[in-house]
Amino acid sequence: MLTLTVYMISFHNLLLLGTAIQNPLAFTPTDLILLNCGTPSNTTSLDGRNWKGDAHSKFLASSNSPTLSASETSPLDPLVTLIIPYTTARIFHSRFTYTFPVSPGPKFIRLYFYPAVYSGLNPLTSFFTVNANSYTLLSNFSAYLTVSAMNPAVSYFFREFIVTVWDNQVLNIIFTPAPKSFAFINGIEVVSMPNNLYTTDIDNRYPLVNYNTFFYFHNTTSLETVYRVNVGGRFVANVNDTGMFRTWLDDSNYIFGGATGVVHKWRDDVTIKYTNHTPAYTAPAEVYITQRTMGRVPYVNLNYNLTWFFPVDSGFNYLVRLHFCENEVDITGENQRVFSIFINHMTAETEADVMVWSGGSDIPVYRDYVVWVPEGRQSKQDLWLALHPSLNSKPRYADAILSGLEILKLNKLDGSLAGSNPELIVVPSSPDQQQSSLRKRAKSKWSSIVAAIIGAVIGALSTLSLSLYLLNSKWKRQEKGPSSSGERKLPIPQASPLPTDICRRFTIFEIKEATKDFDYQNLIGSGGFGKVYKGFIVNGSITVAIKRLDYSSNQGTREFKTEIEMLSQLCHVNLVSLIGYCIDEGEMMLVYDYMINGTLREHLYETKDDPLPWKQRLEICIGAARGLHYLHTGLPHTIIHRDVKTSNILLDENWIARVSDFGLSRIGLSDNAVSTAVKGTWGYLDPEYARFQQLTAKSDVYSFGVVLFEVLCGRKPLDHKLEHKEKNLANWAQECIQNGTIYLIIDPYLKAKIAPECFRKFVEIAESCVRNQGSERPTMQDVMGELEFALELQETADADKERINPGGEYVYPEVSFNAPSPRCTNPGGCEFEQVSTSGYTSWDTNNATPCSSQ
Ligand SMILES: *[C@@H]1O[C@H](CO)[C@@H](O)[C@H](O)[C@H]1NC(C)=O
Ligand SMILES: *[C@@H]1O[C@H](CO)[C@@H](O)[C@H](O)[C@H]1NC(C)=O
Ligand SMILES: *[C@@H]1O[C@H](CO)[C@@H](O)[C@H](O)[C@H]1NC(C)=O
Ligand SMILES: *[C@@H]1O[C@H](CO)[C@@H](O)[C@H](O)[C@H]1NC(C)=O
Ligand SMILES: *[C@@H]1O[C@H](CO)[C@@H](O)[C@H](O)[C@H]1NC(C)=O
Repeated sequence: MLTLTVYMISFHNLLLLGTAIQNPLAFTPTDLILLNCGTPSNTTSLDGRNWKGDAHSKFLASSNSPTLSASETSPLDPLVTLIIPYTTARIFHSRFTYTFPVSPGPKFIRLYFYPAVYSGLNPLTSFFTVNANSYTLLSNFSAYLTVSAMNPAVSYFFREFIVTVWDNQVLNIIFTPAPKSFAFINGIEVVSMPNNLYTTDIDNRYPLVNYNTFFYFHNTTSLETVYRVNVGGRFVANVNDTGMFRTWLDDSNYIFGGATGVVHKWRDDVTIKYTNHTPAYTAPAEVYITQRTMGRVPYVNLNYNLTWFFPVDSGFNYLVRLHFCENEVDITGENQRVFSIFINHMTAETEADVMVWSGGSDIPVYRDYVVWVPEGRQSKQDLWLALHPSLNSKPRYADAILSGLEILKLNKLDGSLAGSNPELIVVPSSPDQQQSSLRKRAKSKWSSIVAAIIGAVIGALSTLSLSLYLLNSKWKRQEKGPSSSGERKLPIPQASPLPTDICRRFTIFEIKEATKDFDYQNLIGSGGFGKVYKGFIVNGSITVAIKRLDYSSNQGTREFKTEIEMLSQLCHVNLVSLIGYCIDEGEMMLVYDYMINGTLREHLYETKDDPLPWKQRLEICIGAARGLHYLHTGLPHTIIHRDVKTSNILLDENWIARVSDFGLSRIGLSDNAVSTAVKGTWGYLDPEYARFQQLTAKSDVYSFGVVLFEVLCGRKPLDHKLEHKEKNLANWAQECIQNGTIYLIIDPYLKAKIAPECFRKFVEIAESCVRNQGSERPTMQDVMGELEFALELQETADADKERINPGGEYVYPEVSFNAPSPRCTNPGGCEFEQVSTSGYTSWDTNNATPCSSQ
């Protein structure tokens, strides 16, 4: 369930909190109750609000006493122990009521949940119902399943409801555990709101989208906030709301596809002019000051919809409130920016003109729509919102605008707001839907996952790490044909018999069967996180590698989930990806295809296998470079692998390189460095990163340079048996290049087999990768292109030899390096030389859409 969540990013804001800046005209709630459950003590949360302990409080009905049971939060998530009210919980084994004597009128009820192990109780076994007076807020509710499905990943959350309390009524909030189960709550917040903010005293009509009629509701309706978004703007924390402590998220997680329009804050001096229709408590000024528009290129705007999507529960009516405000200087009057509004592909408005609605610049206005989301095959569906320029009235610009939005669920006739629990992990799978839309969709899901990962890395993201015999044979689509003559065509991997639209969840029984109960014979590796087994699934027809997490591994369920989500989204012919996972009986496992040809490393040295031919080595390097290039640039956020080495480059049955083990990967920005504890493998570690702990994509480039030398020289990157100056391959190779003796240290098997032009190119690439300063190293894209070029040089030379001596062996002369490749002696004057890109095209990231979209 994707409800309003307080996530790590907001936690950061809380730490930075000064005093709350409230709108002077904001609302002052008559009732403001903050109850911290499971504790007798009064505490102040980081946002400066005072929470009362519920023990001994007047809100506990005395009849409840025998069932009372409180517990400290177990320190699963180190951050949570700081955040009131998540630090303690109250546990209920039978029906339990909190009674709040409040004034009549509509109230926000916020329920805070942190599903952890309390008093040894398994959070997975907690299912319960929550009622507020005659309304059912939650039913058969599992906080654990809810949090597991959240995106961005979080470990705690709150749900916000609106219930009207009648004259002479109190507000009873009742927790009822399911049979043989238990209920818990970490905190309860009750806040009064203006009488007519969302509901009204009189029957109020709202256009019912697509029914050409109106939907009536008044103060007998209860609601649940499912989304509240500051479109085109920042996260607005509860203390910066208009007095009701609502939280406004930024819209980046919900925007659909690649065309995301333009975000604006046009002027710094905007004063929002609230009106009687849109009073100051409606939404904070910050929501109205920032906007998203389509951009100013008319033909572009006319060809797309500015679109957001929001997963919601099926079978409910939703109130969709759209907030608008024009404060762009260029928009001076009516008929300048006119657009259509579509909700769930139905027309809600054909000619929306904010200036007409508001009456002028800087004047905020909102519009409400009710939309019916029917019962469907699935318990969740996406609610779509799309804007498109409307040209009927020949407006000055072809553009659309939105400042904020709220989506509230309306109760069913029986007074229930409860939806069903999510599956543990939701993987999009609807092959009958338009492929392209799914692809775009998955891309934008990626960005939320990125947010999740950024959230998660604040805590130590101590994840899996070891090489595996893995493979992504889920890869089904063929590489796009070369669009220019120079592009290399690598062998195309075969389609796998596995269905591709899933990241399957395996039961422990399936895994045990696959591995003969983790038989020692099937053990193929082990590392810091646990062991790797070979296994056979689908009646033994498919071989897989199963990474089984050690009990002692400090990887939490959340990191595990993050890894699964990350891996199942990464899909590229040169990356491994996931078949499925297993969380069962306290075990956490990842399932990959088995990599029949093992690691690149084991084909280079200390091996009984035949040495790899030079051309094959080049192709493997190109494949690995493509995989890394995709990690660095193929997604909205850069992913830095951090542990590039020959034992993490795996080889499938067609000898295609698959980069594996993103266990140490970090999300970074391509230019900005991420400060982090140094991780990686000696011999491959970027000296700049090791020294300054500033991680950039160029650190991967360094490690990849070491891989190239390893491939060329057929030796370990660190060999302690060698004499001092030769120990470190990268340093030794650099020295040999300077001395012109590099040819002497190459793998003896390769002597006379490398065309001199190719050799020079290859050495030049490798040398540029391992330069001391990251800024002097090429990007992965450059490396990829140059390696393709090197392969071309080899093939051209081979073809010449073939012409002269058909069927003969190609023998090339030794290459002396009298003119060493340029070492940078002059910092600033030694940029990496960009080769002309005419000879090859860069890797098309369209080949790298997520597996789930196929
Ligand atoms: C509230 O707004 C102020 C002013 O924009 C900002 O400095 C502060 O960080 C915000 N508080 C939170 C908790 O985000
Ligand atoms: C908490 O605050 C309430 C009301 O302000 C007060 O009655 C109560 O004694 C306080 N409890 C503790 C443990 O300080
Ligand atoms: C709800 O609306 C009715 C009129 O339909 C009004 O009499 C009543 O006061 C309202 N109750 C609250 C609590 O606002
Ligand atoms: C915009 O969305 C509407 C409603 O779903 C659809 O009819 C229309 O074709 C879309 N336009 C574009 C350009 O995608
Ligand atoms: C409660 O939810 C769980 C998990 O979604 C489900 O398996 C179970 O059948 C539900 N129980 C009832 C009584 O609906």
